[in-house]
Amino acid sequence: MAAPPTDSFTEFQTNLTQTKAQSTTTNGNTVSRGPSPNRGASVPDNEAIGPESTTQQKWLTEHGIDKSKWVKLKRLNHMRYQHEDLNVITTFLKDFGVKVVKKTETERWYAGYGPDQYVYYARQGPRKFLGGVFEVDSREDLEKLVRDHADTLQTKGIEEMTTAPGGGSIVTILDPEGFPVNFVHGQSQRAPQQMPEKLVVNDESTKPRARQFQRFSPGPAAVHKLGHFGLVSAKFDVLREWYTTHFNIVPSDMLYIDLPNGGRKEVAMFAHLDLGQDLVDHHSLFLATLTPDSSIPEPHVHHCSFEVHDFDTQALGHQWLAEKGYQNVWGVGRHILGSQIFDYWWDTSKFMVEHYADGDLVNEDTAVGYGPAGHEGLAVWGPDVPQEFLH
Ligand SMILES: [Fe+2]
Repeated sequence: MAAPPTDSFTEFQTNLTQTKAQSTTTNGNTVSRGPSPNRGASVPDNEAIGPESTTQQKWLTEHGIDKSKWVKLKRLNHMRYQHEDLNVITTFLKDFGVKVVKKTETERWYAGYGPDQYVYYARQGPRKFLGGVFEVDSREDLEKLVRDHADTLQTKGIEEMTTAPGGGSIVTILDPEGFPVNFVHGQSQRAPQQMPEKLVVNDESTKPRARQFQRFSPGPAAVHKLGHFGLVSAKFDVLREWYTTHFNIVPSDMLYIDLPNGGRKEVAMFAHLDLGQDLVDHHSLFLATLTPDSSIPEPHVHHCSFEVHDFDTQALGHQWLAEKGYQNVWGVGRHILGSQIFDYWWDTSKFMVEHYADGDLVNEDTAVGYGPAGHEGLAVWGPDVPQEFLH
Protein backbone atom coordinates (compact mmCIF):
# COMPACT_ATOMS: atom_id res chain seq x y z
CA MET A 1 0.00 0.00 0.00
CA ALA A 2 1.25 3.46 -0.79
CA ALA A 3 1.36 5.98 1.99
CA PRO A 4 -1.60 8.34 1.53
CA PRO A 5 -0.76 11.76 0.10
CA THR A 6 -0.24 14.21 2.90
CA ASP A 7 0.05 17.95 3.23
CA SER A 8 2.36 17.57 6.16
CA PHE A 9 5.83 17.91 4.82
CA THR A 10 7.40 16.56 7.97
CA GLU A 11 5.17 13.51 7.89
CA PHE A 12 6.11 12.89 4.29
CA GLN A 13 9.81 13.17 5.02
CA THR A 14 9.65 10.92 8.07
CA ASN A 15 11.32 7.64 7.36
CA LEU A 16 11.73 8.25 3.69
CA THR A 17 13.25 4.81 3.27
CA GLN A 18 9.94 3.21 4.10
CA THR A 19 7.88 5.76 2.23
CA LYS A 20 9.91 5.06 -0.86
CA ALA A 21 9.71 1.29 -0.38
CA GLN A 22 5.96 1.47 0.10
CA SER A 23 5.43 3.63 -2.95
CA THR A 24 6.32 0.78 -5.26
CA THR A 25 3.71 -1.85 -6.00
CA THR A 26 4.55 -5.54 -6.23
CA ASN A 27 4.69 -5.33 -10.02
CA GLY A 28 7.34 -2.63 -9.71
CA ASN A 29 5.26 0.31 -10.88
CA THR A 30 5.48 3.49 -8.90
CA VAL A 31 2.23 4.48 -7.24
CA SER A 32 1.22 8.05 -7.91
CA ARG A 33 0.78 10.09 -4.79
CA GLY A 34 -1.44 12.63 -6.46
CA PRO A 35 -0.83 15.99 -8.00
CA SER A 36 1.50 17.33 -5.29
CA PRO A 37 4.78 18.54 -6.77
CA ASN A 38 8.11 16.99 -5.94
CA ARG A 39 9.74 18.54 -2.94
CA GLY A 40 13.07 18.70 -1.20
CA ALA A 41 13.97 20.22 2.14
CA SER A 42 16.83 20.17 4.61
CA VAL A 43 15.18 18.46 7.59
CA PRO A 44 16.73 18.26 11.11
CA ASP A 45 18.51 14.89 11.52
CA ASN A 46 16.32 13.26 14.14
CA GLU A 47 13.12 14.42 12.45
CA ALA A 48 14.32 12.94 9.16
CA ILE A 49 15.34 9.68 10.83
CA GLY A 50 11.90 9.30 12.43
CA PRO A 51 10.62 7.15 15.28
CA GLU A 52 12.27 3.89 14.23
CA SER A 53 15.48 4.82 15.97
CA THR A 54 17.42 4.85 19.19
CA THR A 55 20.02 7.15 20.70
CA GLN A 56 23.69 6.39 20.16
CA GLN A 57 24.19 6.17 23.92
CA LYS A 58 21.44 3.57 24.24
CA TRP A 59 22.82 1.62 21.31
CA LEU A 60 26.30 1.57 22.87
CA THR A 61 24.95 0.52 26.28
CA GLU A 62 22.76 -2.21 24.78
CA HIS A 63 25.78 -3.59 22.95
CA GLY A 64 27.98 -3.46 26.04
CA ILE A 65 30.47 -1.09 24.45
CA ASP A 66 32.98 0.61 26.72
CA LYS A 67 34.12 3.86 25.11
CA SER A 68 37.25 3.96 27.27
CA LYS A 69 38.56 0.87 25.45
CA TRP A 70 38.32 2.52 22.04
CA VAL A 71 41.27 3.46 19.90
CA LYS A 72 40.07 6.88 18.77
CA LEU A 73 40.05 7.33 14.99
CA LYS A 74 40.28 10.99 13.98
CA ARG A 75 39.41 10.66 10.33
CA LEU A 76 39.63 8.52 7.28
CA ASN A 77 42.93 9.29 5.59
CA HIS A 78 43.38 7.33 2.35
CA MET A 79 42.70 4.02 0.56
CA ARG A 80 45.29 1.42 -0.37
CA TYR A 81 45.07 -0.93 -3.36
CA GLN A 82 47.40 -3.14 -5.36
CA HIS A 83 47.09 -3.03 -9.16
CA GLU A 84 48.72 -5.10 -11.91
CA ASP A 85 49.58 -2.09 -14.04
CA LEU A 86 50.28 1.22 -12.34
CA ASN A 87 50.23 3.17 -15.59
CA VAL A 88 46.75 1.94 -16.50
CA ILE A 89 45.27 2.68 -13.07
CA THR A 90 47.02 6.06 -12.99
CA THR A 91 45.38 7.09 -16.27
CA PHE A 92 41.99 6.10 -14.82
CA LEU A 93 42.59 7.85 -11.50
CA LYS A 94 43.62 11.07 -13.25
CA ASP A 95 40.38 10.93 -15.25
CA PHE A 96 38.59 10.26 -11.94
CA GLY A 97 40.02 13.49 -10.49
CA VAL A 98 43.13 12.86 -8.40
CA LYS A 99 46.72 13.72 -9.23
CA VAL A 100 49.98 11.88 -8.74
CA VAL A 101 52.03 13.55 -6.00
CA LYS A 102 54.79 10.98 -5.84
CA LYS A 103 55.86 7.93 -7.77
CA THR A 104 58.49 5.24 -7.51
CA GLU A 105 59.01 2.18 -9.68
CA THR A 106 56.43 0.18 -7.72
CA GLU A 107 54.31 2.72 -5.79
CA ARG A 108 52.19 5.81 -6.44
CA TRP A 109 50.48 8.35 -4.21
CA TYR A 110 47.50 10.38 -5.46
CA ALA A 111 46.13 13.54 -3.86
CA GLY A 112 42.91 15.50 -3.94
CA TYR A 113 42.70 19.20 -3.08
CA GLY A 114 41.76 18.59 0.56
CA PRO A 115 43.93 18.56 3.68
CA ASP A 116 45.35 15.06 3.17
CA GLN A 117 48.81 14.47 1.76
CA TYR A 118 47.20 11.85 -0.46
CA VAL A 119 43.84 10.09 -0.65
CA TYR A 120 44.84 6.98 -2.60
CA TYR A 121 47.91 4.77 -2.59
CA ALA A 122 48.64 2.16 -5.25
CA ARG A 123 51.28 -0.54 -5.21
CA GLN A 124 52.30 -2.68 -8.16
CA GLY A 125 51.26 -6.33 -7.88
CA PRO A 126 48.36 -8.72 -8.40
CA ARG A 127 44.93 -7.07 -7.99
CA LYS A 128 44.32 -6.75 -4.27
CA PHE A 129 42.46 -4.59 -1.75
CA LEU A 130 44.92 -3.31 0.85
CA GLY A 131 42.37 -1.60 3.09
CA GLY A 132 41.25 1.80 4.26
CA VAL A 133 43.51 3.94 6.43
CA PHE A 134 42.38 5.77 9.55
CA GLU A 135 44.33 8.51 11.30
CA VAL A 136 44.75 7.97 15.06
CA ASP A 137 45.34 10.49 17.84
CA SER A 138 48.76 9.45 19.05
CA ARG A 139 51.71 7.12 18.70
CA GLU A 140 50.45 5.40 21.87
CA ASP A 141 47.37 4.37 19.87
CA LEU A 142 49.61 2.70 17.31
CA GLU A 143 51.48 0.95 20.14
CA LYS A 144 48.18 -0.25 21.61
CA LEU A 145 47.10 -1.59 18.21
CA VAL A 146 50.36 -3.52 17.87
CA ARG A 147 49.90 -4.95 21.39
CA ASP A 148 46.18 -5.78 21.14
CA HIS A 149 46.25 -7.22 17.63
CA ALA A 150 49.60 -9.04 17.63
CA ASP A 151 47.91 -12.14 16.16
CA THR A 152 46.88 -10.37 12.95
CA LEU A 153 49.63 -7.76 12.70
CA GLN A 154 50.71 -7.29 9.08
CA THR A 155 53.41 -4.65 9.60
CA LYS A 156 56.64 -5.19 11.50
CA GLY A 157 55.29 -3.41 14.54
CA ILE A 158 54.98 0.31 13.81
CA GLU A 159 56.51 1.01 10.41
CA GLU A 160 57.82 4.41 9.35
CA MET A 161 56.46 5.56 5.99
CA THR A 162 59.78 7.01 4.91
CA THR A 163 58.97 7.19 1.20
CA ALA A 164 55.38 8.46 1.53
CA PRO A 165 54.55 12.18 1.12
CA GLY A 166 54.22 13.66 4.62
CA GLY A 167 55.94 10.69 6.27
CA GLY A 168 54.24 9.30 9.36
CA SER A 169 53.95 5.83 10.83
CA ILE A 170 51.62 2.98 9.95
CA VAL A 171 50.23 -0.16 11.55
CA THR A 172 48.25 -2.72 9.56
CA ILE A 173 46.11 -5.43 11.14
CA LEU A 174 43.37 -7.74 9.87
CA ASP A 175 39.74 -7.59 10.90
CA PRO A 176 37.98 -10.92 11.69
CA GLU A 177 37.03 -11.34 8.04
CA GLY A 178 40.64 -10.95 6.98
CA PHE A 179 40.30 -7.45 5.50
CA PRO A 180 43.40 -5.33 6.12
CA VAL A 181 42.80 -2.21 8.23
CA ASN A 182 45.48 0.47 8.46
CA PHE A 183 46.19 3.18 11.02
CA VAL A 184 48.53 6.12 10.58
CA HIS A 185 49.91 8.83 12.81
CA GLY A 186 52.39 11.67 12.47
CA GLN A 187 51.91 12.69 8.86
CA SER A 188 52.90 16.31 8.28
CA GLN A 189 50.20 18.78 7.24
CA ARG A 190 49.79 19.59 3.59
CA ALA A 191 49.86 23.18 2.39
CA PRO A 192 46.30 24.49 1.83
CA GLN A 193 45.16 23.99 -1.74
CA GLN A 194 43.01 26.15 -3.97
CA MET A 195 39.32 25.47 -3.26
CA PRO A 196 36.74 25.57 -6.08
CA GLU A 197 34.53 28.62 -6.21
CA LYS A 198 30.98 28.25 -4.89
CA LEU A 199 28.51 28.72 -7.72
CA VAL A 200 26.01 31.54 -7.36
CA VAL A 201 22.60 30.04 -8.11
CA ASN A 202 19.34 31.75 -9.01
CA ASP A 203 16.02 30.29 -7.95
CA GLU A 204 12.49 31.52 -8.61
CA SER A 205 12.49 34.15 -5.87
CA THR A 206 16.13 34.86 -5.08
CA LYS A 207 18.35 35.84 -7.98
CA PRO A 208 21.76 36.88 -6.65
CA ARG A 209 23.47 36.00 -9.94
CA ALA A 210 22.91 39.35 -11.61
CA ARG A 211 24.61 39.73 -14.99
CA GLN A 212 26.84 36.77 -14.24
CA PHE A 213 26.67 33.77 -16.57
CA GLN A 214 27.33 30.14 -15.59
CA ARG A 215 30.33 28.80 -17.49
CA PHE A 216 32.05 25.44 -16.99
CA SER A 217 35.16 23.69 -18.25
CA PRO A 218 34.80 20.02 -19.14
CA GLY A 219 37.17 17.65 -17.35
CA PRO A 220 37.55 15.26 -14.44
CA ALA A 221 35.64 15.99 -11.21
CA ALA A 222 38.46 17.08 -8.91
CA VAL A 223 38.48 14.98 -5.73
CA HIS A 224 38.49 16.81 -2.40
CA LYS A 225 38.94 13.95 0.08
CA LEU A 226 38.18 10.32 0.82
CA GLY A 227 34.72 10.02 2.38
CA HIS A 228 34.01 6.37 3.09
CA PHE A 229 34.50 2.78 2.05
CA GLY A 230 32.39 -0.33 2.39
CA LEU A 231 32.98 -4.01 2.96
CA VAL A 232 30.79 -6.98 2.03
CA SER A 233 31.16 -9.60 4.70
CA ALA A 234 30.20 -13.23 5.27
CA LYS A 235 30.13 -12.58 9.02
CA PHE A 236 28.38 -9.24 9.35
CA ASP A 237 27.60 -9.57 13.08
CA VAL A 238 31.20 -10.40 13.96
CA LEU A 239 32.55 -7.50 11.94
CA ARG A 240 29.95 -5.09 13.30
CA GLU A 241 30.94 -6.05 16.81
CA TRP A 242 34.67 -5.87 16.11
CA TYR A 243 34.63 -2.40 14.51
CA THR A 244 32.27 -0.88 17.08
CA THR A 245 34.02 -2.42 20.11
CA HIS A 246 37.61 -1.56 19.25
CA PHE A 247 37.10 1.84 17.66
CA ASN A 248 34.90 4.94 17.91
CA ILE A 249 32.81 3.61 15.03
CA VAL A 250 29.10 4.06 15.78
CA PRO A 251 26.12 3.28 13.54
CA SER A 252 24.21 6.08 11.85
CA ASP A 253 21.79 3.66 10.19
CA MET A 254 21.17 -0.05 10.56
CA LEU A 255 19.30 -1.98 7.88
CA TYR A 256 17.39 -5.17 8.63
CA ILE A 257 15.37 -7.88 7.00
CA ASP A 258 12.22 -9.40 8.52
CA LEU A 259 12.51 -13.08 9.29
CA PRO A 260 9.66 -15.57 8.75
CA ASN A 261 9.47 -16.14 12.52
CA GLY A 262 8.62 -12.48 13.05
CA GLY A 263 12.12 -11.56 14.16
CA ARG A 264 14.57 -9.24 12.47
CA LYS A 265 18.09 -9.68 11.27
CA GLU A 266 20.44 -6.75 10.84
CA VAL A 267 22.24 -6.99 7.52
CA ALA A 268 23.98 -3.66 6.95
CA MET A 269 25.45 -0.78 8.93
CA PHE A 270 26.37 2.75 7.90
CA ALA A 271 28.74 4.00 10.58
CA HIS A 272 30.39 7.29 11.48
CA LEU A 273 33.38 8.17 13.62
CA ASP A 274 32.24 9.34 17.05
CA LEU A 275 34.00 12.64 17.70
CA GLY A 276 31.49 13.84 20.29
CA GLN A 277 29.92 17.15 19.36
CA ASP A 278 32.14 17.59 16.29
CA LEU A 279 30.31 17.08 13.02
CA VAL A 280 31.44 14.13 10.96
CA ASP A 281 30.34 12.42 7.75
CA HIS A 282 27.18 10.29 8.06
CA HIS A 283 29.32 7.26 7.27
CA SER A 284 33.04 6.63 6.98
CA LEU A 285 32.55 2.87 6.91
CA PHE A 286 29.71 0.63 5.86
CA LEU A 287 29.38 -3.08 6.32
CA ALA A 288 27.00 -5.22 4.30
CA THR A 289 26.12 -8.89 4.26
CA LEU A 290 27.37 -11.16 1.51
CA THR A 291 24.30 -12.68 -0.15
CA PRO A 292 24.07 -15.94 -2.09
CA ASP A 293 23.20 -14.06 -5.29
CA SER A 294 26.33 -11.90 -5.10
CA SER A 295 28.36 -12.09 -8.30
CA ILE A 296 31.49 -12.19 -6.14
CA PRO A 297 31.06 -15.24 -3.89
CA GLU A 298 33.64 -14.28 -1.27
CA PRO A 299 33.92 -11.28 1.09
CA HIS A 300 35.19 -8.23 -0.75
CA VAL A 301 35.49 -4.46 -0.73
CA HIS A 302 32.31 -2.95 -2.18
CA HIS A 303 33.58 0.52 -3.05
CA CYS A 304 35.38 3.58 -1.76
CA SER A 305 34.01 7.07 -2.20
CA PHE A 306 35.57 10.48 -2.74
CA GLU A 307 34.04 13.88 -2.21
CA VAL A 308 33.71 16.36 -5.08
CA HIS A 309 32.57 19.98 -5.02
CA ASP A 310 28.95 20.03 -6.20
CA PHE A 311 26.37 18.58 -8.54
CA ASP A 312 27.69 20.31 -11.67
CA THR A 313 31.20 19.10 -10.89
CA GLN A 314 29.87 15.60 -10.51
CA ALA A 315 27.84 15.69 -13.72
CA LEU A 316 30.83 17.06 -15.64
CA GLY A 317 33.02 14.35 -14.10
CA HIS A 318 30.47 11.72 -15.11
CA GLN A 319 30.50 13.00 -18.68
CA TRP A 320 34.30 13.00 -18.73
CA LEU A 321 34.58 9.37 -17.54
CA ALA A 322 31.82 8.28 -19.96
CA GLU A 323 33.55 9.98 -22.89
CA LYS A 324 36.80 8.21 -22.00
CA GLY A 325 34.95 4.90 -22.29
CA TYR A 326 35.10 3.85 -18.65
CA GLN A 327 32.37 1.64 -17.26
CA ASN A 328 29.67 3.36 -15.22
CA VAL A 329 28.04 1.27 -12.50
CA TRP A 330 25.27 3.51 -11.16
CA GLY A 331 24.60 7.22 -11.20
CA VAL A 332 24.19 10.05 -11.13
CA GLY A 333 21.52 9.80 -8.42
CA ARG A 334 20.81 10.76 -4.81
CA HIS A 335 21.03 8.36 -1.88
CA ILE A 336 18.49 8.43 0.94
CA LEU A 337 20.71 7.34 3.84
CA GLY A 338 23.54 9.86 3.94
CA SER A 339 21.78 11.99 1.27
CA GLN A 340 24.81 12.04 -1.03
CA ILE A 341 24.52 12.68 -4.72
CA PHE A 342 26.34 9.59 -5.98
CA ASP A 343 28.08 8.30 -9.09
CA TYR A 344 29.71 4.85 -9.14
CA TRP A 345 32.32 3.63 -11.63
CA TRP A 346 34.44 0.54 -12.17
CA ASP A 347 38.12 1.35 -12.22
CA THR A 348 40.37 -0.45 -14.70
CA SER A 349 41.05 -3.26 -12.19
CA LYS A 350 37.27 -3.73 -11.57
CA PHE A 351 37.27 -2.09 -8.14
CA MET A 352 34.28 0.20 -7.62
CA VAL A 353 34.90 3.87 -6.86
CA GLU A 354 32.41 6.64 -6.21
CA HIS A 355 32.19 10.40 -6.53
CA TYR A 356 29.86 11.99 -3.99
CA ALA A 357 28.69 15.49 -3.18
CA ASP A 358 26.43 17.03 -0.53
CA GLY A 359 26.61 14.29 2.12
CA ASP A 360 24.94 14.50 5.56
CA LEU A 361 26.84 15.44 8.72
CA VAL A 362 26.05 13.93 12.12
CA ASN A 363 27.37 14.06 15.68
CA GLU A 364 26.80 12.17 18.95
CA ASP A 365 23.29 13.64 19.25
CA THR A 366 22.10 12.18 15.94
CA ALA A 367 19.88 9.13 16.44
CA VAL A 368 20.71 5.68 15.10
CA GLY A 369 18.06 4.98 12.45
CA TYR A 370 16.62 1.58 11.58
CA GLY A 371 15.15 0.75 8.20
CA PRO A 372 14.29 -2.22 6.02
CA ALA A 373 17.05 -3.32 3.66
CA GLY A 374 15.89 -3.13 0.08
CA HIS A 375 16.93 -1.82 -3.28
CA GLU A 376 14.10 0.72 -3.21
CA GLY A 377 15.63 2.43 -0.21
CA LEU A 378 18.99 3.09 -1.88
CA ALA A 379 18.10 6.19 -3.88
CA VAL A 380 15.42 8.85 -3.96
CA TRP A 381 16.20 9.58 -7.62
CA GLY A 382 18.53 8.26 -10.24
CA PRO A 383 18.67 5.34 -12.64
CA ASP A 384 17.33 1.97 -11.45
CA VAL A 385 19.90 0.26 -9.29
CA PRO A 386 21.75 -2.23 -11.49
CA GLN A 387 22.36 -5.81 -10.37
CA GLU A 388 26.12 -5.31 -10.51
CA PHE A 389 25.92 -2.62 -7.81
CA LEU A 390 24.46 -5.22 -5.47
CA HIS A 391 27.50 -7.47 -5.98
FE1 LIG B 1 29.10 5.15 -1.13
